[in-house]
Amino acid sequence: MNDRKLRVGIIGTGGIAHSHMNQYVKMDDVEIVAGADLVPGKAKAFFEEYGLDNVKCDYKDHAELLDDESLKLDAVSICTYNRMHKPCTVYALKKGVNVLLEKPMCVELEEGLEIMKAEKESGKIVSIGFQPRFDPSMQLVKKIIQSGVLGKIYYIQTGGGRRRGIPASAQKTTFIEDATGGIGALGDIGCYSLDMVLNALGYPKPLTVTGYTSNFFGTNPKTFEGRGGAEVAKKFEVDDFAAAFVRLEDDLILDFRISWAINIDTPGDTLVIGTEGGLRIPSTDCWNGRVGGPLKIYHELAGEQTVTEIPLPKNDVNCVELKVRSFLDAIKTGGKAPVPTSQIIYNQAILSGIKKSAELKHEIKIEVPEI
Ligand SMILES: NC(=O)c1ccc[n+]([C@@H]2O[C@H](COP(=O)([O-])OP(=O)(O)OC[C@H]3O[C@@H](n4cnc5c(N)ncnc54)[C@H](O)[C@@H]3O)[C@@H](O)[C@H]2O)c1
Repeated sequence: MNDRKLRVGIIGTGGIAHSHMNQYVKMDDVEIVAGADLVPGKAKAFFEEYGLDNVKCDYKDHAELLDDESLKLDAVSICTYNRMHKPCTVYALKKGVNVLLEKPMCVELEEGLEIMKAEKESGKIVSIGFQPRFDPSMQLVKKIIQSGVLGKIYYIQTGGGRRRGIPASAQKTTFIEDATGGIGALGDIGCYSLDMVLNALGYPKPLTVTGYTSNFFGTNPKTFEGRGGAEVAKKFEVDDFAAAFVRLEDDLILDFRISWAINIDTPGDTLVIGTEGGLRIPSTDCWNGRVGGPLKIYHELAGEQTVTEIPLPKNDVNCVELKVRSFLDAIKTGGKAPVPTSQIIYNQAILSGIKKSAELKHEIKIEVPEI
């Protein structure tokens, strides 16, 4: 495997596919051989932007591309909207192709379990596109939590998001329609703040959840003034705000809220509270892992209450490059997926659990069977 180029395909050539391509085209050991999009001509135009006119892309969808055995694919980047994550990933795995799947893993927990089952049966890997994992600030958060300096951790408050920032316009509504996005701010950016704390804690299992979701901004035509107005608001079928109280194993409580739109400056910092210290992580820019200021640990020293400020490390890495590179290296070495489904299924179980509990308007149990 080491002496030949990896043969890669792109499924879904919309917005995020560009960030994958920008990395692949820099890599000497990668050959982009195919691409597909549901919109006729979109994949062709996409590859032309990179000066690639020899990429096979006359497929009507992911299945037609994956059925083409002449491609001899090693991997695909699945960059479709959320509702298409499961069908495309499972199909690729059944064809023996490794998958770099964009976040969130999917919409419903059951879909995530199907992905894991197909992954196990295929012997291939699925890595989920959480680039903040590779950010030095996120790694510092993990280092602090894993060091034990906070003592027994029992309470976590996380989330965040935007005062205004619903990703929709007259030209693009794939994030806000149920048939495409399926889940709103909760899945789109909530998944990042969950990954920040759960990854740092070693991904404890979620047990129960009480969830709330609302869409006061998304369904209001005023929100989309100048970018589609009432036509866009009419299509808004997901959440623009979510809050939840989640019980995790080891007697941990997770207090969560996330917004695409809210009437406050920010839904807040992340707090990780333990018996020996409390960590404050200033409100983060969810998608890239950047933290809004130095981390602070509140603790006692010589019997005095004190605060230690930890400066943020230099941010000199390209997280998206590392997300793609680590996936390819795992394929080449026969290693494990860098962001594995075995962890992200708990992230997904919380997101799907919040969505379901909000619909039912009561607490629910989260059950994640072993795959
Ligand atoms: N990691 C990140 O920083 C990041 C950033 C933005 C979006 N995302 C994720 O990436 C995904 C896509 O977002 P986007 O902004 O690119 O959306 P988009 O709507 O711009 O693009 C999705 C494309 O997938 C195509 N598609 C859907 N189903 C298909 C199928 N079965 N076969 C072939 N093509 C298909 C659509 O036609 C569309 O062109 C979402 O899940 C989103 O959460 C990740």
